Amino acid sequence: MAIKEVFLALGLASLLLFHVEAHTGFVSFNYAGNGPSNWGNLAAEYKSCSSGTIQSPINILQDNATLNTKLHDLSRLYVDANATLINNGFNVMLKFEKSGGLLLQDGKNYSLKELHWHAPSEHTIDNQKYPLELQMVHESEEEDGNVAIVAILYDFGNTDPFLYQLKDWVAQLAKEHCSLDEEIQVPIGPVRTKSLKRHSRRFFKYVGSLTTPPCTEKVTWYILGKVRKVSKEQVALIKSSLAPEFQNNARPIQSSNERNVELYDESKCNPHSQ
Ligand SMILES: *[C@@H]1O[C@H](CO)[C@@H](O)[C@H](O)[C@H]1NC(C)=O
Ligand SMILES: *[C@@H]1O[C@H](CO)[C@@H](O)[C@H](O)[C@H]1NC(C)=O
Ligand SMILES: *[C@@H]1O[C@H](CO)[C@@H](O)[C@H](O)[C@H]1NC(C)=O
Repeated sequence: MAIKEVFLALGLASLLLFHVEAHTGFVSFNYAGNGPSNWGNLAAEYKSCSSGTIQSPINILQDNATLNTKLHDLSRLYVDANATLINNGFNVMLKFEKSGGLLLQDGKNYSLKELHWHAPSEHTIDNQKYPLELQMVHESEEEDGNVAIVAILYDFGNTDPFLYQLKDWVAQLAKEHCSLDEEIQVPIGPVRTKSLKRHSRRFFKYVGSLTTPPCTEKVTWYILGKVRKVSKEQVALIKSSLAPEFQNNARPIQSSNERNVELYDESKCNPHSQ
């Protein structure tokens, strides 16, 4: 049993590494036509995409989420760390050289490894889809293979400050994508993470999977309750660096299979703070 668990943990850790390291050398996939419904047949390593039972993304029904007053707030101790912007073909990703800082949850420290965007959003709230979703991928510092992803949904509106600082580099990716036969990497030095660690008064937590092959399961998701703003130009710029079959890179909603979605709500955790 213990040995099996170690193998499972190692498997998850190495699969995640593939995901983080981009897919050069791996079976490619796309979002065109029946793309996502076929992922599970493309390679043995992608089997979870079709046979998994706790897949992501899901639709979050707010009225059905269970308030959990024992959840802790989502402490994010992010730092302004050096990063590289990567067009890996299926999305635009910012990968930290070492770590973008820490997420503290369930008494564990998770290190921020990379973040990437999906347009439109993958998760929906009460069936509402948004133009953009940012997913921040963290790995447990205990090397147990545990992965935690914090997701922020964006509606059209004002400029998003985090993406704004990256605009010249995203434009550079967009310019170079026509010559794309391998992934493009642009080192961009320190990235300001202040806007990403803003305190969250409400979030949803559930256990799911990576939303791209290999669709590895047992990923803990934290979906922030507050929808942020991004300009139409910013979303268009991100999309323009990807080939047409990846410009809508949201995997369809997966069956929740009666999974429990927990709710953290600061105003309800402590009635005295209202
Ligand atoms: C970021 O990269 C620059 C240039 O390579 C280097 O001088 C600096 O020490 C790096 N900063 C961190 C925090 O690693
Ligand atoms: C998590 O990181 C914080 C800040 O570096 C540290 O104070 C704390 O001891 C760490 N906790 C664990 C469980 O490693
Ligand atoms: C509501 O959540 C429960 C689990 O907490 C689940 O069994 C049920 O299927 C959910 N209802 C809907 C409509 O998703």
